Amino acid sequence: MYICLCKSVTDHQIRDAVNNGATRMCDLRRELGVATGCGCCAEAAQRELDLALAALPEPVFGAADQAA
Ligand code: FES
Repeated sequence: MYICLCKSVTDHQIRDAVNNGATRMCDLRRELGVATGCGCCAEAAQRELDLALAALPEPVFGAADQAA
């Protein structure tokens, strides 16, 4: 689904960006151009960003210690 029509950015692209390290709207602006046109998509993009961040797996602390 298109989130940003001005820059033709989809929800999939936002999720991919989050999976590759994006954590804030400024990351999405820099990497995808989201909300750099008319700005109408900013709220929807933030919502997609929040959903994508919430879907990330929890980091496993101490995993290196257990492997040793
Ligand atoms: S819809 Fe995203 S900047 Fe216009």
